[in-house]
Amino acid sequence: MRFRIAIVALTTAASWFAAHRTDADNKTTAAPATSEPALSASDRDEAALLIDSACSTCHSKELLEQQRLTRKQWEASVKKMQTWGAPLQADQTTLVARVLSELYHPGLPVYQPRSVDATAVARSQAPTPDGPFSRGDAKLGATLYQSYCASCHAELGVGSGLGPRLLDQSILYRARDVMTIVTQGRGRMPALPQLSTKQVAALLSFLRSAPEPKP
Ligand code: HEC
Ligand code: HEC
Repeated sequence: MRFRIAIVALTTAASWFAAHRTDADNKTTAAPATSEPALSASDRDEAALLIDSACSTCHSKELLEQQRLTRKQWEASVKKMQTWGAPLQADQTTLVARVLSELYHPGLPVYQPRSVDATAVARSQAPTPDGPFSRGDAKLGATLYQSYCASCHAELGVGSGLGPRLLDQSILYRARDVMTIVTQGRGRMPALPQLSTKQVAALLSFLRSAPEPKP
C-alpha cells in the first residue's frame, strides 16, 4: 500500500511539474543564466518530488506559483521552511531552491490567479442522480469502509492528515464522481479498481447515514 501511495504521489508530482514547466516556458523569458552546470532531468524530477512531498503538507501549489523570487530569496525561503518543519535534508535545500528559482523568478509576468466561473463551480458541486448507486447496503458499506477507507479518512469519515473529511460533504451526493475517485484514485489517494458499483453504492449509503462522532 505504501508503495502504491508513493507511486501516486510520484505521478502527481511529475505531472504537476511538467505542466508548470511548459507554462513558464511559454510565457516568459528564461530564468537568469548562471555559470552552474545545467540540471539534469533526474535532478528536476527529484526536486519535483521533494517539492511535492515537503511543501504541499502546509500549502497549496498556488502559493509557490505566485512567488517571483530570486535564487537568493528562494534559498532563504526554503531554509526558513526547513527550520519550520519542511522535511528536507540540508543538501536538498539547494536543489529545491534552484529549481524553484528557475520556475518562479522575477522575470515572469505578474501572477494571474486562475479565474473561477461561479456557475461552473456551482454545477460541479450540485447533486447528481444516484442511478445504479441508489439503495446501497449501508451495513456492507460500514464493513467496506473499515477495510478500504478508514486508514486515511478516519474511523468515522471525519478525515485525518491522510485523507479529507467525507461526512456531510457534497461529493457524497455525486455518486458517479465518487466512483471515479475510488476506482481511479485522485492526488494522493490510490485507485481501488477492485470496488464494484454495488460496493460503492454500499459505501455511499453508509457514509450518508453515518452519525457525526461524539467529541
Ligand atoms: C510546516 C509547514 C510548512 C511547510 C512544510 C512549508 N511551509 Fe512554506 N510557509 C509556511 C507558513 C506558515 C508560511 C507563512 C509564513 C509567513 O507568514 O512568513 C509559509 C510561507 C511560505 C512562503 C511565502 C514567503 C515567505 O517566505 O514567507 C513561501 C515562498 C514558502 N512558504 C515556500 C515553501 C516551500 C518551497 C516549502 C517546501 C520546501 C515550504 N514552504 C514548506 C509553512 C510551511
Ligand atoms: C491512502 C489514503 C486513502 C485511502 C485508503 C482512501 N482515500 Fe479517499 N482520499 C484520500 C486523499 C488524500 C484524498 C484527497 C485527494 C485529492 O483531491 O488530492 C481523498 C479524496 C477522496 C474523496 C473526494 C473528497 C472530496 O470532497 O472531493 C472521496 C469521495 C474519497 N476520497 C473516498 C474514499 C473512499 C470511499 C475510500 C475507500 C473505498 C477512500 N477514499 C480511500 C486518501 C485516501
